[in-house]
Amino acid sequence: CGIIGIVGSEPVAGRLVDALKRLEYRGYDSAGVATLEDGSISRRRAEGKLGNLAQKLAFEPLEGRIGIGHTRWATHGAPTERNAHPHATDRVAIVHNGIIENFRDLLADLARDGYQPQTQTDTESVALWVTRELARGADPELAVARTLKQLKGAFALAFLFRDHDGLLIAARHGAPLAIGYGTTEMYLGSDAMALAPFTSRLTYLEDGDWAVITRDGVTIRDGRDAIVQREQQVSQASALLVDKGNHRHFMAKEIYEQPETISHTLSHYVDMGAERVAIREALPFSFAELTRLTMSACGTAYYAGAVAKYWFERYARLPVDIDVASEFRYREPPLAPGGLSLFISQSGETADTLAALRYCAGQGQHVASLVNTLESTIARESGVVFPILCGPEIGVASTKALTAQLTALASLAIAAGRARGALSEEQETELVRELVRLPTAVSQALGTEAQIMDIAKRLSKAKDVLYLGRGPMYPIALEGALKLKEISYIHAEGYAAGELKHGPIALVDEDMPVIVVAPSDELVDKTLSNMQEVAARGGNIILITDKKGAETVGQDVADIILIPEVSSFVAPILATIPVQLLAYHTAVFMGTDVDQPRNLAKSVTVE
Ligand code: G6P
Repeated sequence: CGIIGIVGSEPVAGRLVDALKRLEYRGYDSAGVATLEDGSISRRRAEGKLGNLAQKLAFEPLEGRIGIGHTRWATHGAPTERNAHPHATDRVAIVHNGIIENFRDLLADLARDGYQPQTQTDTESVALWVTRELARGADPELAVARTLKQLKGAFALAFLFRDHDGLLIAARHGAPLAIGYGTTEMYLGSDAMALAPFTSRLTYLEDGDWAVITRDGVTIRDGRDAIVQREQQVSQASALLVDKGNHRHFMAKEIYEQPETISHTLSHYVDMGAERVAIREALPFSFAELTRLTMSACGTAYYAGAVAKYWFERYARLPVDIDVASEFRYREPPLAPGGLSLFISQSGETADTLAALRYCAGQGQHVASLVNTLESTIARESGVVFPILCGPEIGVASTKALTAQLTALASLAIAAGRARGALSEEQETELVRELVRLPTAVSQALGTEAQIMDIAKRLSKAKDVLYLGRGPMYPIALEGALKLKEISYIHAEGYAAGELKHGPIALVDEDMPVIVVAPSDELVDKTLSNMQEVAARGGNIILITDKKGAETVGQDVADIILIPEVSSFVAPILATIPVQLLAYHTAVFMGTDVDQPRNLAKSVTVE
């Protein structure tokens, strides 16, 4: 999941581990480093957290001045020390992100020459293939060039060779990799965050590129092995390790930052003085002429798009298709020429979202993306990039990125509404005012924390939890269920309130909490009737609503989490806050690893 490499002038092992620490937020389940000691490859690897690896290195230090390191998120083979990277033979050590899809074929071919894998990973097939090329007399460059031509799948790779104290080779095919330039050293890393303490001068490899890195510099070749020049840029990633401040977890810090992060995003999209939206990006398409907007994303970012569908359709009268990227990419959806496709991704590196983007680009669509990481692959391949400006998000479970995505999407929906004549200037002003009031309302909603802690204590005893919502609250119900699953490991499901009687009502009994997300809007009465259907069956209801909604239900519900009364336009953004807090505090009660929940990765660069 994270790759780092240093062609150094001093011992590198400690710095490799520090750099991996900066990639920790991406989620991983084992880690390792390899260096050269007197020309031969030495490795240290450990299951679990980086602390285990650091401890190993303390007992058995590595002195090499060149090395590679890796944090692994298991795909093929359990997260054991044996399956941890670097994978090595006596001639080469490699680290790998992504999946080598044809590893079985490669291993079968290698077996004919007596090369046997020691692990269950797909990665080892690459190490063995390079080793066979070296054994047949190829030099490292030729061995890698030949091997790369055999590989199918999406990957980033880094290679370290026996007896080559000043050489690393890196290859990129579908998973990100950057080369970093120092004064007496050179670096490589899977993202700019890892490289930030060493250098801000970077070159991002393009797909198909591979690079030969020595202390003197780098030679980059493309997929046809021709030498190419790739632009050097100055990365904005901060060398400071983002810290938790006074909070116990990054997730808590990120939940509490939302009044500021929403303001920050708003200040990019809205002219507060004029009370108008102000889209600064040059648009290569016209909202007025669009017949359809196609959105794709994964995980929480998908729910941002799902809420925005309601906004674009209602306020801009623009039909929207939205799908999870992993489904969209293989569906071969027909797309009208000149249409707009929008991709939402915090990291900008999610493999499925990137593949969906490439499909749409190939279909002659205008490609726009909404990302947090402006240096990411998705951003670089988009015709227009809308930023969300919420700062680095470290907690694996996304929080502040979602509310920033929603804020930007709400602004874009207003811009589209105006361009399409669906909104008047007065209506625009009214909606912009609602957005501008949002950060204050979010601060007030954070005040529900004490009550939520109390509810979370009970929620932590539940085996299953149901979330209900209608209209734009439906994706928020889905997000609530996702957050709870992700970090507390309690089974939860989100349902459209109207679908309750078509199935999930059969599950309702006094042991199953049902969380109803229903601030007062045009649909609240309907959702509240669905809630009564739960109450009538002894269901244990937790209602998220505002004062008006609470007055409607009267004494019927014991647990009401009150959020400020806002317009139905911005209510989904506000209702996100209590569902985040509920998941967070439930997880804290259960004692789980909130910031790095088991089996999850921050950015999923494999299919
Ligand atoms: C992973 C993360 C989620 C995130 C999703 C999409 O599953 O754990 O928090 O929502 O990927 O990531 P992206 O970077 O594309 O928004």
